[in-house]
Amino acid sequence: MRGRPMKRGELPHPARRVPVLGDVFRLSPRSPMAAIARLGSSLGPVFEIKVFTKRIVLAADPDVVTDLCDESRFVKHVGPELVELRKVLGTGLVSADVGDPMWSKANALMQPAFSQAAMRTYHTTLAAVAMEFAAHWSKKAGGSPVDVVADLTRATQEMTGRVTFGYVFGSFDRDDPHPFMAALIAMINHSERANILQRIPLSSLVMRRAEKASDERGRYINAVVDDVIRSRRADPSNEHQDILDVMLRASGPEVPNQISDEDIRFQIIGLAFGADATFCVPAIALHYLAESPQLLEKARSEIDAAWGPDLEGPPSFEQVSKLRYLRRVLDEVMRLWSPVQGFLREAKRDTVLADRYPIKKGQGVVVFTPLLHRDPVWGADVDAFDPDRFVPARVKARPAHAFKPFGTGMRSCIGRHLAVHESLLILSTVLYRFDIEPQPGYRLDVQEAGGVKPVGLTLSIRERRSHAVRCL
Ligand code: HEM
Repeated sequence: MRGRPMKRGELPHPARRVPVLGDVFRLSPRSPMAAIARLGSSLGPVFEIKVFTKRIVLAADPDVVTDLCDESRFVKHVGPELVELRKVLGTGLVSADVGDPMWSKANALMQPAFSQAAMRTYHTTLAAVAMEFAAHWSKKAGGSPVDVVADLTRATQEMTGRVTFGYVFGSFDRDDPHPFMAALIAMINHSERANILQRIPLSSLVMRRAEKASDERGRYINAVVDDVIRSRRADPSNEHQDILDVMLRASGPEVPNQISDEDIRFQIIGLAFGADATFCVPAIALHYLAESPQLLEKARSEIDAAWGPDLEGPPSFEQVSKLRYLRRVLDEVMRLWSPVQGFLREAKRDTVLADRYPIKKGQGVVVFTPLLHRDPVWGADVDAFDPDRFVPARVKARPAHAFKPFGTGMRSCIGRHLAVHESLLILSTVLYRFDIEPQPGYRLDVQEAGGVKPVGLTLSIRERRSHAVRCL
């Protein structure tokens, strides 16, 4: 389908727009991103869609994205979605306004806690969770197929809880998510719904009850984190190797330029929110590897060579961080199925993108990764899963901004090293210890509404090695 010819000052958009509703009929509620990608692929590198009264401008071409990533011309756009999210995340990094002094303080405080070097500090904690996860799968091996998404969500949430604020969710011993994560996810979903519904007249009447329930959840989440902070403050001698400790040590009455304990609480909640994207990367990686004996063999030989034939306990930091092929597998998953399918930029002043598209100061523009990551710069068969796209020579040959799963510049993902280390640990642990087989006839089905999530993804697993998993 082609868009209408552009009038002066107008951006390409789908034809046959409906008054009031805009292009809403063209968006599938379950896979809105895939629908936008289909619309956008015929509209050119910059296009717009209209959802009710909201105009959304999207960009998908590496040259245009290079422009958008130029921090002297563009900054992060904090749109109404993120403003709404502040009800949940308060002063957390994700939703902070550009130029907010609290963001600068919190960012300066947390950067060292998220460096690649810091991952070494958290490795023991993360590896312990990987071993618990392996023990969990050992019990299921040889039985019914495992629910990959449910179990990898358990593993990544457990890692996040422990590494951010030393909180043990006990995810492997419960059928449902821990109430903390369940409440947080329900609040985020509510916030997304509220942001859409507020454009519909009289919706506030329907939303009032949901609003009350969401406030209740917020109070519970705050109380959980406040409790942990209080007990840490009460006994500062009891050191923890986690992100909360870094923040508490760097703030307090005696430290100038401090952030309050309430702000620290919001930072922790914001990290739990940010980290919830991680599970789908190792989950989708397992799908592709199970589907391809060749790729599986390549990944596994790398792990076997690095870990030796009979590693019983957890791997060391080096044994994980040097798994280069596996890292390429993760990058290729994030190319095709980036858990965060775009991020927003805005122009600092009126400008023209790619010498053609007029953009007003303050106008939000989505860097739309489902299309950016399938641009012709990626080669012929852009939908094929091929980790070798990330061998260094091929990376160098592509425009630097062709791959943006973690956003850009100052406001890019602070948790990227953590997400990668967690994913590497989980994936390598599974491949080292289990044989995996796909369900016959399963085709990857990814739901996007409420976060990217593979649906119906199960694998048959068998123990690959006879030794028991020794937990730490
Ligand atoms: C594969 C997993 C992940 C992906 C794909 C991802 C992606 C992103 C993206 C695209 C942004 C930029 C958003 C924007 O510009 O508006 C972002 C920001 C952020 N992410 Fe992640 N993220 C992941 C994991 C994590 C983890 C594990 C954490 C923390 C434990 C985290 C914490 C954050 C925070 C706090 C921000 C806001 C940074 C700021 O504005 O200063 N993320 N993430």
